[in-house]
Amino acid sequence: MAGHNPWPDEGNTGHIWDEDLRELDNPPPLWWMLSFYAGFIMIIFYTLYYPTIPLTNNSGEFTKGLTGWTAIEEYNEDFQVLKDWRVAKFADKEEQLAAMSVADILKDDDLRQYAVATSKVLFGDYCAACHGAGGAGNPSFPVLADDDWLWGGNIAQIEASIKNGRIGNMPAKGMMGNLTDEEIDSVTDYVIALSEGKANDASFAAGKAVYAKGMCLACHGPMGKPLAPAGAANLTDQVWRFSSDRQTIRNVIAHGVNVKKNGEYIEGTRQAIMPAFKERLPNADVNVKRLAVYTHQLGGGQ
Ligand code: HEC
Ligand code: HEC
Repeated sequence: MAGHNPWPDEGNTGHIWDEDLRELDNPPPLWWMLSFYAGFIMIIFYTLYYPTIPLTNNSGEFTKGLTGWTAIEEYNEDFQVLKDWRVAKFADKEEQLAAMSVADILKDDDLRQYAVATSKVLFGDYCAACHGAGGAGNPSFPVLADDDWLWGGNIAQIEASIKNGRIGNMPAKGMMGNLTDEEIDSVTDYVIALSEGKANDASFAAGKAVYAKGMCLACHGPMGKPLAPAGAANLTDQVWRFSSDRQTIRNVIAHGVNVKKNGEYIEGTRQAIMPAFKERLPNADVNVKRLAVYTHQLGGGQ
């Protein structure tokens, strides 16, 4: 290969393949050399300018660079710019939310949609733990995405539920607390019959009498449907606040809901408390309204 070089004067290295493929010995072009040296200069520049070299003492420290620049600071600054932009962009709408009543917000399509769109994260952070994602409910926590309301489903009632909280009260063993075990059994059967639309069957007459004796109707209405929303459950539908099995229903009747004695819950009573959010929510003046509008459109707002 090297012994025979048919092109001795062209400055090749003497390496020839496939008879005529030669390696030449030209200097690189000037532009290439300049970029090459510029690269070295940039390395020195970057090393001095930016945080670069980890220190060897395992402290997690590194050289800080001449300006103290860090990526996280730049990110935070950019993020702040974005936040400021959003605040400025939506300032009008936020002011309107603060100034208007929930009823008026509901009538204003644009504002209503804005309130709903900006509620999702808030609902996830403050409500979903109890009420489930999208208000789908959880055992012992009411569904918000249906039209079965304990405390009323118009926008003002929903707002009041969120703002001031709600505590349902049901006495144990009837209004006077004087129902016997037997009576509790028969009224339990009557309540189940109510939910199945069979309450008028003669076989539930005894339970019906207990329903009257225990004054259940004062809260649950004469036919198992509360006359006005004041926290009592509708007993005529298949929506159960706690559970649909007979034992749970009987327990509610026997031990009541949120029944306290000497400041302590009695054994077996159901605890059902909706906390007041006027102090828990950041920026509560606006956020309670926002969430009321959001909850109202989940499914059953009236
Ligand atoms: C710690 C659990 C908990 C959290 C958190 C919670 N709730 Fe409730 N909420 C309840 C309970 C329990 C009830 C039912 C009260 C009752 O039985 O009387 C309730 C009732 C309600 C009601 C009334 C429902 C009806 O049928 O009338 C609304 C509206 C409501 N919650 C909205 C919200 C919103 C919006 C949030 C978030 C800001 C929220 N809740 C956060 C537990 C919670
Ligand atoms: C002072 C009002 C009051 C009286 C009286 C009352 N209840 Fe209730 N009842 C309530 C409230 C409030 C709830 C709980 C609603 C909630 O927190 O979800 C409730 C819940 C229930 C439940 C559970 C419903 C469900 O969906 O899981 C049953 C069953 C029930 N009551 C039956 C009765 C019977 C039977 C009587 C009479 C012996 C009675 N209640 C008397 C207020 C009352």
